Amino acid sequence: MTVLGQPVDRTDGLAKVTGQAKYSADYTEPKLAHAVLVTSTIAKGRIVSIDAGSVESMPGVVLVMTHQTAMRLPDGGVTDAEPPAVRVLTLLQDDRVRYNNEPVAVVVAETLEAATEGAHRLQKTIRYEAAEPNVSFNKTKSSAYEPEQMMGRQASSSRGDISAALRQGTAHLDAVYTTPYEHHNPMEPHATLAHWDGPDLTLHDSTQGVSGVSNAVAKVLGIRAEQVRVICPFVGGGFGCKGSTWSHTVLAAMAAKQTGRPVRLVLQRPQMFGMVGNRPCTDQHFQIFAQTDGTLNGMRHDVISPTSTFEDWTETSALITRKLYAVPNQATSHKLVKLDLGTPTFMRAPGETSGSFALESAMDEMAYMLDMDPLALRIKNYAETEPQDNKPWSSKYLNDCYRIGAEKFGWSRRTAQTRSMRQGNVLVGYGVATATYPANRSQASAIARVLADGTAMAASGTQDLGTGTFTVMTQVAADALGFPLDKVHFQLGDSSLPHAPVSGGSQSVASVSPAVREAATQARAKLIALAIADSASPLSGATADRVKVEGGWLIDRTDASRREPAAALIARNGGKPIEATASAEPGDEKKNYAFHSFGAVFAEVHVDADLGTISVAKVVAVYDVGNVLNAKTAHSQLMGGVVWGIGSALTEVSDLDLRYGRYSNGNLAEYHVPVNADIQAIDITVLDHGDPYINELGARGIGEIGITGVAGAIANAVFHATGIRVRDLPITLDKVM
Ligand code: MOS
Repeated sequence: MTVLGQPVDRTDGLAKVTGQAKYSADYTEPKLAHAVLVTSTIAKGRIVSIDAGSVESMPGVVLVMTHQTAMRLPDGGVTDAEPPAVRVLTLLQDDRVRYNNEPVAVVVAETLEAATEGAHRLQKTIRYEAAEPNVSFNKTKSSAYEPEQMMGRQASSSRGDISAALRQGTAHLDAVYTTPYEHHNPMEPHATLAHWDGPDLTLHDSTQGVSGVSNAVAKVLGIRAEQVRVICPFVGGGFGCKGSTWSHTVLAAMAAKQTGRPVRLVLQRPQMFGMVGNRPCTDQHFQIFAQTDGTLNGMRHDVISPTSTFEDWTETSALITRKLYAVPNQATSHKLVKLDLGTPTFMRAPGETSGSFALESAMDEMAYMLDMDPLALRIKNYAETEPQDNKPWSSKYLNDCYRIGAEKFGWSRRTAQTRSMRQGNVLVGYGVATATYPANRSQASAIARVLADGTAMAASGTQDLGTGTFTVMTQVAADALGFPLDKVHFQLGDSSLPHAPVSGGSQSVASVSPAVREAATQARAKLIALAIADSASPLSGATADRVKVEGGWLIDRTDASRREPAAALIARNGGKPIEATASAEPGDEKKNYAFHSFGAVFAEVHVDADLGTISVAKVVAVYDVGNVLNAKTAHSQLMGGVVWGIGSALTEVSDLDLRYGRYSNGNLAEYHVPVNADIQAIDITVLDHGDPYINELGARGIGEIGITGVAGAIANAVFHATGIRVRDLPITLDKVM
């Protein structure tokens, strides 16, 4: 039995629960200095004066870095790289303030306490010339423009003839759905320890992409990427905000340079509301035209979201609308408005989360309009081929997800009428939605090495965000090497390792596994070749196809008594490890096939008829994500996604104070993520169909699909329970009273 797919316990689990796992801020260095950021308290304007001198004289303070004292960067810290590869940062090169909570200074001191005190004092010495900020999305929406670039995708799309469809539809939905600003709030805040050794920089940085940080920091500082080593074996949650390189990482490197000492900089929780990205709010206008039998004739989805004044970043909410249903006539668009806020960023299925709430709510509304079962309406408009580009799917079992999910959930018990399933004072509602997320894959490299001590290692410059990369890649390497799992050690989170992409876009498994597998396969082949050529080996002279490696032994397939441990073979041949490095990248399969993962999400909600309190009693979700490489970590990751979906449906919102352009609930006490008390039954099923075209492991990756569709299913269940259609997330009790 192969170890691939098995519910193997996390190889890093023990280290994590015993406190042995070192996170970025756990590292230290001799002569370490501590940095604390000072951030702006106005949203727009300039700094007139800042009294660095009074803080420099405080005990323990080593450096006060302001726009006047910070080292000058090449081209003012602005690179020619296109965002989001390198973001537009704030690096204290001028006196401008572009948003509230933007870095304006760094105080470096002997202790964290002294730096904190210094930052506090410095804050009070700043005099601003404030301008009137524009932070109101609603007031600015009418000036929306189409972005020039949207991470390689077209901002708008059309197919068929949408204006003709408008005339054909017998049922017509016209509705606007809105989703709020949200912040990622990983448990581990952003943290960097910067350490220069001559011209070379080492960063312990909490990140989803070690090589991305290396590249971005090198670009901004005007040095080579090889001079910036980024180390991050453990990440205490990312969710997208650690997918880019932000200002604090470069500021830590600058502070280390200027003080000539290693510098650690950790963002305070409130500092994570502004400078490290967020999910922007959206305004999503849906129009759907359908025939009485449920056939969708036409669909429009027009999205507006805010960005900063200095960088275009788009919440791509309409991308999945182009792919999910077989609508012949369709138009979608994305537009932006510029506000005096920090630049938004990727957050937990950016676009797909906000977009699937709107799309799946609209489908539910249409079903009620047509007096159809909402599940039947989806099946009626099932896209057998990808409807935008008319390509076949690489693999799609969404129909099975619907069917199995409906059975497990007991969808047939649902009575169509709203408020019809009341149990005493509890309004019970059932809702369904489709989950979907694209299957991404990028180039990745890996190394595999078999050692004379009977162990093997494999490594790649990928990351483990707590999702299971360590474990899954250990399984892939062990399987391809023919070694026992506990003899294989996997390393990651170091930009000096073979390159791997950012752990974003749910692509790590699909990208890195093939590289690890290829490197391990080549190392195994070298091992076999060594045995065959070694006259002292029991396998001497055998043909390569006759030798297998199993349990760390080389074994003759035709005569199992001819065998020896790999360790013995290597030791006899000088003890030098046998190793191979390999790169794996996608071919031209995307030309021929469309790659997406799918799922069906069913939710049961209970709404208190008097109080309006909403609880999610049960979520049943069935996913088609290709082969699963570890049943346990996959299950946990999908369940985590559903939990985040419940958060987006019911609790998460960053409340922007329109007077100041600052989030008034910028902390963990008032930014409400779902907690254990919010979570009841979550039943996850993963179908077992490998994707034949994504890679030879058939694995598409499962990072983000778990959150998609959940808010839609819950909103639809709330409507079924109460008869109140909430088109504005989160669904708080005031909206159903
Ligand atoms: Mo994910 S939001 O692509 O890190």
